[in-house]
Amino acid sequence: MNTAVDQSDFFKTLKEKSDGGTLRGDYSQCDEHYVVKQDWSAYTPEQHALWRRLYQRQAKLVPGRACDVFIDSLAKMNAAAEIPRLDRTTEALRRATGWELVAVPGLVPDLTFFEHLANRRFPVTVWLREPHEFDYIVEPDVFHDFFGHVPLLFNPVFADHMQQYGEGGLKALKLDGLTFLARLYWYTVEFGLIQSPQGLRAYGAGILSSGGEIEYCLTSPHPRRIAFDAERVMRTLYKIDSYQETYFVIRDFHQLFEETAPDFAPLYERLKLQQALPANSLLPGEVNLPPN
Ligand code: PHE
Ligand code: FE
Repeated sequence: MNTAVDQSDFFKTLKEKSDGGTLRGDYSQCDEHYVVKQDWSAYTPEQHALWRRLYQRQAKLVPGRACDVFIDSLAKMNAAAEIPRLDRTTEALRRATGWELVAVPGLVPDLTFFEHLANRRFPVTVWLREPHEFDYIVEPDVFHDFFGHVPLLFNPVFADHMQQYGEGGLKALKLDGLTFLARLYWYTVEFGLIQSPQGLRAYGAGILSSGGEIEYCLTSPHPRRIAFDAERVMRTLYKIDSYQETYFVIRDFHQLFEETAPDFAPLYERLKLQQALPANSLLPGEVNLPPN
């Protein structure tokens, strides 16, 4: 199948980052929704061992750094020993929030991605990084997708938010608002921080699957930490090849749900007339929250 079909900024930027401008996964077997079968028996013992190493390193880092929802769900997912079978997690997820996981070869076009989310299906990449990529991968692999994203799908409010995001994505495609919606996704689902009585915690998958940023985002004095505001987030450029310059902090998942619920159409029109803000901006009146 020819997958060079996507024109959106988000997909293109990620694609340009990948070696030789081509995507890494094997797209020859996927159906029209880019879904493949997870050929679980094809994973090698070495790959399961690499998964275990990734899991153990990361699981040690999450206490005190990830939000409670993430920690609780991760414990229930039983994914420490080997690369998980997506259909087993789907059974548990269906019972909890009505979501399912679908296996995909890698990045999928925006339209496809949004259609999956709008139907409460989360696409999980099937390939695992190589040992030399232990700390850094250019495209999301099964460890990032599964470890980083799946735990929060067990939370009803976040799960509903993700479905709405998918519906919002379909709408943004028609309204030429994808650039803005991609920034929202980046600064929340991938790199979001959340308040807790004990201090800041991470809920973004890009942070939670990273060995370095999970500590950096909470304690480094360098980046900005700013209270979440949907419009501010959607004006802000982001870095894809370094730790973030700014993290946006939500109070709880209800805030995320409620502040992204309004019709974004007028917002997109406003945003189109404005200059984007550099990733390291701090506007007059904004408070840079202290690190933990
Ligand atoms: N409310 C947004 C719209 O009308 C859609 C959306 C919901 C976007 C949730 C992101 C998250 O377009
Ligand atoms: Fe991700």
